[in-house]
Amino acid sequence: MAPGAEATSGDAPGPWGRTVLVTFDEGIAWVALNRPHKRNAMNPELNDEMVRTLDALEGDERCRVLVLTGAGDAWTAGMDLQEYFRDVDAADDPALQNRVRRAAADWQWRRLAAYHKPTIAMVNGWCFGGAFTPLIACDLAIADEDARFGLSEINWGIPPGGVVSRALAAVVPQRDALYHIMTGETFDGRAAARMRLVNEAVPADALRARTRELALRLAGMNPVVLRAAKTGYKVAAAMPWDQAEDYLYAKLEQSQFRDPEQGRSRGMRQFLDDKSFRPGLGHYTRG
Ligand code: COA
Repeated sequence: MAPGAEATSGDAPGPWGRTVLVTFDEGIAWVALNRPHKRNAMNPELNDEMVRTLDALEGDERCRVLVLTGAGDAWTAGMDLQEYFRDVDAADDPALQNRVRRAAADWQWRRLAAYHKPTIAMVNGWCFGGAFTPLIACDLAIADEDARFGLSEINWGIPPGGVVSRALAAVVPQRDALYHIMTGETFDGRAAARMRLVNEAVPADALRARTRELALRLAGMNPVVLRAAKTGYKVAAAMPWDQAEDYLYAKLEQSQFRDPEQGRSRGMRQFLDDKSFRPGLGHYTRG
């Protein structure tokens, strides 16, 4: 399996550095879950650090696209059975339980799914259980074709945790979702791509280059329009048609109003007047 992002935090000061590492590269923030000795299982400390990291990167100009990956040979083995479940159960403190659940849901779902910047999951290895939530919350996903996925909860005695089942229903057909929810059988990156859990699966030695290529492409695009496009799609998907129509028109007008480079007029001018590009075949030239 491909290695994840390098296990360094580069020159970047930020709220990461222990269970989360961040490196910057031409507008890409490579965010690596960093508990490789525990297969990047998500404990409360990591969840808190990810909440702070996502908040910080949203306002950080070095990050135009966020790639979420894992240090070592795992993406993430899901929630930490010891520290997230057993230790919190043992504390017998409902307030603590609420707090750790909220931090997990905050970054794995709410913040990530509604992130202002484009997000790509680069699945470099093991991906189990709770891992499916941040995986699906990312806008796009590319996997090592030999990465191993599994809805393993059934194997240790629980139905899928948190919003995993709801997230699955957003991207994977019911037959595939239920098969894996009910059997706990693992599958590889190729199968994940076939069932549309990820966009594509590539050999391990091409994973980082392909992810970087896609990230650089998104990093070069108009961020205001990208944000309106992805948010519009995700939010409207849960709306009745009439509301969706009104919301999407409002979103479109909002994106024109908030777009400092006025991409719409620029694109039309370059096509209709200058005849310098074809919108069907590529992006307009930015400032
Ligand atoms: N929670 C807590 N600890 C975990 C963990 C998890 N989800 N996944 C791995 N670890 C720990 C192991 O307990 C082990 O700790 P130790 O070295 O202190 O004994 C360490 O990480 C390495 O795990 P190991 O099982 O030896 O690695 P492996 O490479 O042989 O197997 C997995 C990797 C991912 C197949 C295996 O660790 C596993 O099945 N993990 C649980 C996956 C799961 O069900 N996740 C769903 C949670 S919602």
